[in-house]
Amino acid sequence: MELKDKTALVTGAGIRLGRAFALALAQEGVNLVVHYNRSAAPAEETVRLAEAYGVKAVAVGADFTDLPAIQSLLPQALKHFDCIDILINNAAVYLKSTGLETDLETWEKQFRINLQTPFLLTQAFAKQLPKDRPGRIINIADAQIRHLQPSHFAYRLTKIALVEMTRMFAAELAPNITVNALGLGIMLPLAGKEDADLQAYAEKYVPLKRTGSPQIAAENALHLIKSDFTTGTFLRVDGGQYL
Ligand SMILES: NC(=O)c1ccc[n+]([C@@H]2O[C@H](COP(=O)([O-])OP(=O)(O)OC[C@H]3O[C@@H](n4cnc5c(N)ncnc54)[C@H](OP(=O)(O)O)[C@@H]3O)[C@@H](O)[C@H]2O)c1
Repeated sequence: MELKDKTALVTGAGIRLGRAFALALAQEGVNLVVHYNRSAAPAEETVRLAEAYGVKAVAVGADFTDLPAIQSLLPQALKHFDCIDILINNAAVYLKSTGLETDLETWEKQFRINLQTPFLLTQAFAKQLPKDRPGRIINIADAQIRHLQPSHFAYRLTKIALVEMTRMFAAELAPNITVNALGLGIMLPLAGKEDADLQAYAEKYVPLKRTGSPQIAAENALHLIKSDFTTGTFLRVDGGQYL
């Protein structure tokens, strides 16, 4: 797909990987809806950085624990743009909780933000896109879902379901919309643990002996967005950690 003058909605685009996806698109000439929840000021900074590439960008806030807020995100975006061509479902939470520790509140928050929101945004995205216009959806998943991850019980279930939802929507939304999942390995330390020694971890557990980066994540998202012949796939970008 030719990207110039298209428009993308990237969820959680104020900070970290979401910002990297947004700016990689802006660099290709894509206008942006920069979604944020708590990171309003960083989202405005993402907007300014995107505008420096000559595109139009707006920041729109929505708390994905709040159903009406999720449902109003696409309508709000469409006040600024005629249509949205690309959706990146990036926003997520990574709540530490084993199966026995997971209470209903944790379960519901994890599923609402990581799975129900991408589901509702996919529906809204598909409905607003004219039938003769190509569309792209990228769901940000996790390369580690093959492993049990007992400490993040509900999180793992949401990311497994997100990959399965990717396949199901890929079949249903073809041929004009492609839907792909990006299974990321270690790209950044956990938020708030930026001083973690990830290189030592990577030397031990990652066959390619290094971590990824926001740039590597964004390059691979761009690859899937540009491709006209890839849908329903789960692309692992994890330095071989999967092996
Ligand atoms: N970092 C990694 O190495 C790694 C590895 C594997 C997979 N991933 C996946 O990559 C994606 C981004 O990772 P990250 O490390 O950049 O995530 P992060 O730093 O934890 O950021 C999470 C994003 O989700 C948004 N968010 C959280 N709660 C929200 C809510 N209630 N409503 C709306 N938005 C909410 C945040 O928005 P605000 O800040 O505006 O509140 C933020 O932009 C996630 O899907 C994650 O699972 C990351």
